[in-house]
Amino acid sequence: MKKKIAVFEGDGIGPEVTQASIKVLDAIAKKFNHEFEYNHGWIGAAAINKFGNPLPKESLKMASDADAILLGAVGDPQFSDPNIKIRPEQGLLEIRKKLNLFANIRPIKSYEATAHLCPIKLQNGPVDFVIVRELTSGIYFGKSSLNSAGDEARDECFYSIAEIERIVKIGLKLSADRNNKLTLIDKANVLETSRLWRKVVNSYEKVNKDMTFDYLYIDNATMQVILNPYQFDVVVCSNMFGDIISDESSVLAGSLGMLPSGSYSESNALFEPVHGSYPQAKGKDIANPIGSILSAAMMLEYFGLLEEARLIESSIDSMLNNGLATEDLKLEHKIGTVQFTDILINLIAKVNPANGSQKQNELVG
Ligand code: NAD
Ligand code: IPM
Ligand code: MN
Repeated sequence: MKKKIAVFEGDGIGPEVTQASIKVLDAIAKKFNHEFEYNHGWIGAAAINKFGNPLPKESLKMASDADAILLGAVGDPQFSDPNIKIRPEQGLLEIRKKLNLFANIRPIKSYEATAHLCPIKLQNGPVDFVIVRELTSGIYFGKSSLNSAGDEARDECFYSIAEIERIVKIGLKLSADRNNKLTLIDKANVLETSRLWRKVVNSYEKVNKDMTFDYLYIDNATMQVILNPYQFDVVVCSNMFGDIISDESSVLAGSLGMLPSGSYSESNALFEPVHGSYPQAKGKDIANPIGSILSAAMMLEYFGLLEEARLIESSIDSMLNNGLATEDLKLEHKIGTVQFTDILINLIAKVNPANGSQKQNELVG
């Protein structure tokens, strides 16, 4: 299989974890006879410093021409002053919006090997649920303003039924292949937009009698994730609530560095770890690359390369089970980002490939 991948390493640890993923993709390409062509583009602080724009139009074109996009992270303390008008994060929001990457899927999985890091006891074994986060609307993209005196600001939260329906449908599709349970996380006791989400989910509940539906307010949900994470199968939520609940859920996996994500439109997809640019770790070879590498595995799954994706996942399991990980996971052998990746690609090269299955991912569209 031949695929064109647009790569945006971005800022902070973005380049380190993305380079790890590319090494893994190359190992997969070699083993299974695929051809991945990478085009590198600029985004975030790096793009502002070079072009004065967090998402230059060449980057956007490169992204829309690609079969898929691999992204590291954006953000740099250089731009943390709240008075600054051009910020790295705008590049990320713009690429999501302009490519209509409305569905952000964030699988939450914990591992036996990292269970000791979780401050709560995972009595029933590893946790496994999926967050489906709406990504191109809500308070992130509503009208926002600051008055001329600079002492009043607003951010509008907007949702249409169409925007909610397309997310809920993806949640339903995912749960049909899992445990048939859909949980909506909202704040319907206060927000009009949340009541619209509830109405939509209620309407699907009426016609899906074989499924379990649950509704939680975000304040309660953030507690439930810690109290009883096993109650979740597929969670659907608005942009902001999905952002918050996913970082919180990473505690179950042992580190924010563990979580991958895929953001889908009808015709394109972008894969990036859930974590940010972790600027304190930049250039130190300590960043956990697993979130990015598992995002690359989600990309392979999107291409229909299921066996290849599973091989990456099982090789990561072996690394963890052998106590090999970056320092955040506090396992027996603390190794750097580069060494972790090199051992992983050796492992991938060693396993005997069967015939790769090429079922297309039909999640969106
Ligand atoms: P962050 O995710 O960068 O880091 C928070 C903490 O999580 C770190 O201090 C570290 O303890 C841990 N962590 C994160 N990634 C890790 C990894 N790969 N390995 C090991 N530990 C890891 O969040 P932040 O500090 O709030 O934000 C830093 C910058 O990143 C900001 O500019 C923010 O806007 C940006 N950001 C970008 C993205 C993105 O590009 N998708 C996501 C979140 C935050
Ligand atoms: C994420 C990040 C982004 C978000 C920021 C950097 C704009 O936190 O991808 O989770 O809030 O969506
Ligand atoms: Mn976030």
